[in-house]
Amino acid sequence: MSLWRKKSITKLLADAENNEHGLKKTLTATSLVALGIGAIIGAGLFVRTAAAASEHAGNAVTISFLIAAVGCLFAGLCYAEFASMIPIAGSAYTYAYTTMGELVAWIIGWALVLEYALGAATVSIAWSEYLNKLLGGAIPYSLCHSPFEAVSAAGEHGIINLPALFILLILSLLLIRGTAESAKVNTIIVFVKVSIVLVFIAVGWHFIVPANHTPYIIPDNAKPVDLGNGKIFDYAGSARSHGWGGILSGAAVVFFAFIGFDAVSTAAQETKNPKRDMPIGILGSLAVCTILYILFAHVLTGVAPFADFLRAGKEASVSYAIDTYMHMHWLATLVTVAILAGFSSVILVMLLGQSRVFYSMSNDGLLPKVFSDLHPKYRTPYKSNIILFLFVGFFGAFIPESVAGDLTSIGTLLAFILVCLGIIIMRKADPDRARPFRTPLVPAVPILGILVCGAMVCSEDPVTIITALGWMVFGLIIFFLYSRHHSNIGKENLPQ
Ligand code: ALA
Repeated sequence: MSLWRKKSITKLLADAENNEHGLKKTLTATSLVALGIGAIIGAGLFVRTAAAASEHAGNAVTISFLIAAVGCLFAGLCYAEFASMIPIAGSAYTYAYTTMGELVAWIIGWALVLEYALGAATVSIAWSEYLNKLLGGAIPYSLCHSPFEAVSAAGEHGIINLPALFILLILSLLLIRGTAESAKVNTIIVFVKVSIVLVFIAVGWHFIVPANHTPYIIPDNAKPVDLGNGKIFDYAGSARSHGWGGILSGAAVVFFAFIGFDAVSTAAQETKNPKRDMPIGILGSLAVCTILYILFAHVLTGVAPFADFLRAGKEASVSYAIDTYMHMHWLATLVTVAILAGFSSVILVMLLGQSRVFYSMSNDGLLPKVFSDLHPKYRTPYKSNIILFLFVGFFGAFIPESVAGDLTSIGTLLAFILVCLGIIIMRKADPDRARPFRTPLVPAVPILGILVCGAMVCSEDPVTIITALGWMVFGLIIFFLYSRHHSNIGKENLPQ
């Protein structure tokens, strides 16, 4: 039984074409760009920009965004070629199955769980934080924090994060109701979310204090900052906290903000004209977000001195900056509401992506059939949505945000690297297949993608890397005990 047996693209496309009772084709180029932006703009921008600026890159967090965007662009160009060539639900997992074989496909599918499921959990925790802020801290600490979370100032322990669980439940139910319905809700939210980013940039621009932007890059003799309680933050003390080292570390932190553009490709099978619309959806949403991010970071660090975020307003940085330096409390409240809506769309698309990856893996026999059973009326993988809610809900309710967030980034980077590799292999193995979109400058672009994403993996902290490895080993055990023996290709005994 070969670990490298592959799926034939021709058969894959024919099966998807014949599957009248499969997923409904409802999405257009516009809804795909909206889906992309829906998944992209979230906790990464609204929470992590301030952390990356204050702890690593300073004002040059704009350059960090640019570096992360370049890594994503290389991977995005590779995704676009695959997504237009193989418009099947399952994204990177499906691409790997046709290029690198079953074992690598499994590895990538398993890594995508880190990206989508843990991504949804991470943002649900951020959602809970913002909700509590909006309610003026009315939710008891113990009911909106993980049991592993640091004790609050008042000496309380977290027990369970109920708001995170709540939002995950609502969005899972919406997904069960239908993809078209979910896409509609998403489009409205995206409109609100982008508007608020634009308003912040336009209004905030007038409050930029030029002195806040000098020096632009944190110098290696930057003064330490007193955090109170006898704690000091020493920029000069670590290569990850000043100069270009800080900018690169900042890039790894804000990389989270770009996660999601690839989720567009998981909806390929539900797209009306995937060959044309997939590249537009993936690259279009990436381009829009990159421009917004750089402007946003420029304004945020111009309005508030970045070192402020070491002490205050890290999680709710935008409303902190508006409240403290622009003195517009109404705008701060409005922004908080819009951010809550924005987080919801990120969670929605992440949950959608995860269920579609499981749908494909289950159709291939690598996961039990329950993950591809469609609802008789709504034709959505409802059982998968329910199981996922339980799984993601567990992480949302009981795990701290930072742990889930870093694991999300590693899983995504791993998938990006394998997709870049897949393009190089596919160009050699199947050069004549029609490619409605071609990645330019192959192999230079995929190789650069592998290098930039690889560098970002290396700059994650060792505990995260080891935990991710543990997850992958767990996945391999399942593969060898279950999936390998249930794989449809194995049963069909297709040529390898
Ligand atoms: N990019 C998404 C976010 O920032 C995951 O929330």
